[in-house]
Amino acid sequence: MELPQPEPGPGEVLVRLAAAGLNPIDWKLADGAFGSSVPVAFPLVLGSDGAGEVLAVGTGVRRFTVGDAVFGQFQRPEHGGGSYCELAVANEQSLAQAARSVTYATSAAVPTAGMTAYNLVEETRISEGRRVLITGATGGVGTFVTQLAAGRGAEVLVTARPAMAELMRNLGASATFDHTAGPIADQVLAAYPDGVDVLIDMVSGPGEFVELTRTVRDGGTAVSLIGSADADVLTEHNLRGFNFVNRPSPQLLEILAGQVDAGRLTVLVGREVPLEEAPDALAASRTGRAQGKTVLAI
Ligand SMILES: NC(=O)c1ccc[n+]([C@@H]2O[C@H](COP(=O)([O-])OP(=O)(O)OC[C@H]3O[C@@H](n4cnc5c(N)ncnc54)[C@H](OP(=O)(O)O)[C@@H]3O)[C@@H](O)[C@H]2O)c1
Repeated sequence: MELPQPEPGPGEVLVRLAAAGLNPIDWKLADGAFGSSVPVAFPLVLGSDGAGEVLAVGTGVRRFTVGDAVFGQFQRPEHGGGSYCELAVANEQSLAQAARSVTYATSAAVPTAGMTAYNLVEETRISEGRRVLITGATGGVGTFVTQLAAGRGAEVLVTARPAMAELMRNLGASATFDHTAGPIADQVLAAYPDGVDVLIDMVSGPGEFVELTRTVRDGGTAVSLIGSADADVLTEHNLRGFNFVNRPSPQLLEILAGQVDAGRLTVLVGREVPLEEAPDALAASRTGRAQGKTVLAI
């Protein structure tokens, strides 16, 4: 639909978007999954992630000028704003200069999944010599976590269908386990009887999550991205654990753009489709079968 051109207020930036990145949170928001905890104004433009050129800046904006190539997060449900559109306003703290060496489509694939991945490796203290198991690793967040964890010298075990195994190894995984071939915990413990130090799980409900924690050594860490970790149950098993909540920042966006430009972070755009096909792309995301990131070309 056509909407009036948004105006940047104080501290805000108006961006002509060239690409929007799709995340599962987009269809979760459309479903009303966050209830009254996230106030929403209609008409609501969906979409957190985007990249494009600065068209205008509001008063007090210091970090950007007209013409800058930027990327970041645009979803502001309380204002009805998002990134699946041509012109969007963001707070300047939600944006950073885009990586210079890649297209807008590639930059649009980074913000939410990249910052999530970066915060995950920090908060689980992944470092040299630690062994980490990542489930749901072939999606947007997982392909970044795999690279960042391997980059820190960790031994990275991931779930992947056979067709994705080689790609995941190229991103730094030491071993892959086919989640369509039987319980992951059994497969991992058969290959690594002493288990892992850290579990990062993106796909399991509460019962399956507890089952997966069998792979984690005493005193290890187990994290759920979808709210399946129960602190009391984890304590009973002598594990540290939590339900991850992302904490975005402009500094993190700058770090990620720098890593992309330095060739240390590969962005896997699995699918690029025109904006008009956003409903189909969202429907595909709902199936949980994304391989890498989906980007909407605007
Ligand atoms: N808590 C937070 O702050 C936060 C932040 C970001 C994301 N998230 C959540 O984290 C989840 C992952 O996000 P994403 O952007 O990476 O999603 P995504 O790009 O849609 O990726 C989903 C991936 O999961 C794999 N998968 C599905 N079922 C699986 C299973 N049973 N075992 C192993 N792998 C399985 C899929 O591979 P196959 O098709 O091969 O099965 C696909 O590669 C979403 O639910 C998202 O909402 C939470």
